[in-house]
Amino acid sequence: MLLSNTKPASLSKRHILGIEGMPVHEMMGLLARASEFADHPKETFHDCLRGRTIVNLFYENSTRTRVSFEVAGKRLGASILNISVAGSSVKKGETLIDTATTLNAMHPDILVVRHNASGAPALLSQHIDAAIINAGDGRHEHPTQALLDALTIQRKFGQIAGLKIAICGDITNSRVARSNLLLLGSLGAELRFVSPSTLLPSAFDDMGVDCYTDLEAGIENCDIVMMLRLQQERMEGREVPSQHEYFHFFGLNAEKLHRAAPNAFVMHPGPMNRGVEIDSQIADDKLKSLIQTQVELGVAARMACLEAVAQHL
Ligand code: NCD
Repeated sequence: MLLSNTKPASLSKRHILGIEGMPVHEMMGLLARASEFADHPKETFHDCLRGRTIVNLFYENSTRTRVSFEVAGKRLGASILNISVAGSSVKKGETLIDTATTLNAMHPDILVVRHNASGAPALLSQHIDAAIINAGDGRHEHPTQALLDALTIQRKFGQIAGLKIAICGDITNSRVARSNLLLLGSLGAELRFVSPSTLLPSAFDDMGVDCYTDLEAGIENCDIVMMLRLQQERMEGREVPSQHEYFHFFGLNAEKLHRAAPNAFVMHPGPMNRGVEIDSQIADDKLKSLIQTQVELGVAARMACLEAVAQHL
């Protein structure tokens, strides 16, 4: 099938390493193209990436992101290889650059990389020929997650500008919060961060975000309440006394959600920790929760990114 209304999004850079530095018209181009892909959720567009090879190189666990890149690539006609670090030479001590150089020698066109070190995809982009898409690097950025979140909001509300969006939870350790701040902020949303002070970096005060340490005050009148997981794997010490106490103060339930705007929606990038940052009743509420829509639109957002990157090949 061919898409009729939009053209492939065009990017000035070869790689998608982050939202930082991406011009607003490029963000809007990706969202417009992704939205058109999303209008045809079952169709394939095999001409877009026919003959192209994508390698998924994931050094951290992933369900949604890895599978949706795989589905996105297949729907565009590419061949996809998944490198599971657990079964690779990484476990024998090979460095990131050596692994990437080895993969590069097999001439993949696009390398989708997730790594626990901030900056790993940028480093690889200087050493290998393939185009790189960052699928989450440490605490730094997760650009395709921010794009799918923006797509979800845009398709629900018709626009992003002027919406009040609260991003709540473990802000310090969240690459999702950072990419969303850059993307949703550039598209005109009014953003707030809500978090215990131990998980809220002071640097954000200077970036024009309103920061709250009280969940109910922070989500007051918000159109979107985006919850984040406590990322224990990136914590250094005792940032949170106990998960039970965290849920009491920062977990979202139906009662607290009443403080948000009457037609507010709840989002979460997943994986969720039910009973820690979000109550099951809210997570599974089909009228209020956009969590499954986010997963669905993740494929369309990644199709737009893969196709845009392929324009440079
Ligand atoms: C997020 C990530 O990996 O940064 N998950 C995702 O990609 N869907 C958030 C998280 O791990 O909590």
